[in-house]
Amino acid sequence: MSRNVWILLSLCCGLISWPFIAQLLPNNHVIRSPKLKVNLNYILPGKALTINWNGTPIFIKNRTLPEIRSSRLVKLNDLKDVFARNDNLDARSLAFDRNRCADTSCVNWLVLVASCTHLGCVPEIKSNGWNCTCHGSFYDNSGRIISGPAPHNLRVPRCKRRSNLMIIG
Ligand code: FES
Repeated sequence: MSRNVWILLSLCCGLISWPFIAQLLPNNHVIRSPKLKVNLNYILPGKALTINWNGTPIFIKNRTLPEIRSSRLVKLNDLKDVFARNDNLDARSLAFDRNRCADTSCVNWLVLVASCTHLGCVPEIKSNGWNCTCHGSFYDNSGRIISGPAPHNLRVPRCKRRSNLMIIG
């Protein structure tokens, strides 16, 4: 077959397959919401909600007083990762429980990116924290890594509380 026939065939294949390829490309009309407002009234003490924020899973937990107390007793020396990993604070902030909360006035509210810092699985909520069943990482009730292969604490995304709303982003 001559070279020109090959070129013509390639062009025809390209034109025919373009509509299928175009469907796979990112859609410019999908609006990604920069901020997410979550009504906190529906999250009872001791309960957590998992939501999707622009494709990122987020945990919001309403911690009980015993959960807060036990998290506050953990010493920095006992932690695998001593940094708060809180996008609302300076990057050098330490992983004290108070530095992990959504804001200092509401120590019960914990907001976390629900992505294990090992390889990104979504950990399961347990009574004493979060367990990543993929390879056995365990995070405490403050989202700090306690054991397993995960290197860092779960990240606290940018968030602030306004009355009964948690604004993420
Ligand atoms: S992804 Fe969580 S422990 Fe590996």
